[in-house]
Amino acid sequence: MDENAKLSFDGKTIELPIITGTEGEKGLDISKLRKETGYITVDPGFSNTGSCTSAITYIDGEKGILRHRGIPIEQLAEKSTFVETAYLVIHDRLPLKEELEFYSKGFTKHSMIHEDMKTFFRGYPQNAHPMAILSAMVCSLSCYYPEFIKAEPTDDEIENIAIELMAKVRTIAAYTYKKSIGEPFVYPRADLRYVANFMHMMFSSPVKEYKIDPEIVKALETLFILHVDHEQNCSTSTVRLVGSSRANLFASVSSAICALWGPLHGGANQKVVEMLQRIHDDGGDVDKYIAKAKDKNSSFRLMGFGHRVYKNFDPRALLIKDQCKMVLDRLGIHDPLLDIAVKLQEKALKDDYFKERKLYPNVDFYSGIIYKAVGIPLAMFPVLFAIGRMPGWIAQWKEMIESPCARIGRPRQIYTGENKRDYIPMEKRS
Ligand code: SDX
Repeated sequence: MDENAKLSFDGKTIELPIITGTEGEKGLDISKLRKETGYITVDPGFSNTGSCTSAITYIDGEKGILRHRGIPIEQLAEKSTFVETAYLVIHDRLPLKEELEFYSKGFTKHSMIHEDMKTFFRGYPQNAHPMAILSAMVCSLSCYYPEFIKAEPTDDEIENIAIELMAKVRTIAAYTYKKSIGEPFVYPRADLRYVANFMHMMFSSPVKEYKIDPEIVKALETLFILHVDHEQNCSTSTVRLVGSSRANLFASVSSAICALWGPLHGGANQKVVEMLQRIHDDGGDVDKYIAKAKDKNSSFRLMGFGHRVYKNFDPRALLIKDQCKMVLDRLGIHDPLLDIAVKLQEKALKDDYFKERKLYPNVDFYSGIIYKAVGIPLAMFPVLFAIGRMPGWIAQWKEMIESPCARIGRPRQIYTGENKRDYIPMEKRS
């Protein structure tokens, strides 16, 4: 049994239950704080605040540990597939052969979107940002599959919605790309597995069948695995908060896509490559940009660096950096942006500013170089992050809905505005 913490102020003492996680993490349960003291806690950015207990992902930011349902990310990246890892995070165990086949067959069967939805794409300007389209189209799935928008779906219904979402998100992403280049949509194929089908829909056309390279598919599969879930990050917290009002999964995930789009979150992978290109075009002077990143008067930040939780290395960044070299070698590409990224990392990690603040490369620092090498356009980078994160969003939404203490999320605040004052009629205002 956990002991209690004692909190004393205003001449009174209250006891706060201590919660201990399976990895020894400690938390104070303050759910009775306001009722017993009238006080709330304030923690902008929630750096010190747990929104829930969860059994899906464990991160130790000091040791650079990331595990999904207890399995280290390094083992999943090396030995698993994206579909299998998706099953793991959603169902808390690795699938049996027939369960994995059920998922794979479901992704193939449900990979099409309703033909009427294709007309939406024509309404967007050619340079519309793909994340805007993805969010809108995912929410629009609730119009075409009304059977899935029940406030209290059964386990089977959640499973079916999950398969629909993971199956269709690739198709919507690929159609968004085709729209941006004025090419006809390419339908999914029944004989291709998850990632290969995505590459086919992205890069095949009526006059050219995309040649699937298993090594490149494996590299993309590894990237998707590395993005699957990451505990209560900004977009996942969004899924939980929106879902806590009993909004359906399509609507909750659509909100998460918008949160992920932000350049401080999943949008960083696009900003990293734009930053590297800017440094390259400016002569490759890495020192100049490290100095700008340290300059408090400059808004410039080293995109792809730093993390709220990882205060040592981000294990995903290490794995992606290895994939980078493999993909570029496989494609016979020498990308000067990779050289700049490696130089930036080397210099930053020796610099006191970054060392003192424990700023290391995060998942977004190298991923864009791989996406660029395989032909994914810059604006689509956050979309690939969303495809990878889809199983995690679903798993976290499911865990929240099934939690016995699932209440609508409604944080409090400390008011700092005007005290009571009367209405002033127009003629008396100055
Ligand atoms: C993702 O949460 C997750 O798990 C997210 C994610 C996931 O899988 O879901 O891992 C995916 O979003 C990765 C992060 C991608 N974003 C970026 O790469 C954008 C660049 N990074 C920063 O904006 C920042 O590091 C954040 C947003 C990632 C973290 O922000 P914090 O935790 O609020 O840290 P902070 O802004 O308070 O910074 C602390 C200090 C500050 O300096 P001081 O005021 O103490 O002097 O570090 C500095 C910051 O100025 N700092 C940086 C920096 N990041 C932090 N300085 C220069 N360059 C940077 N990149």
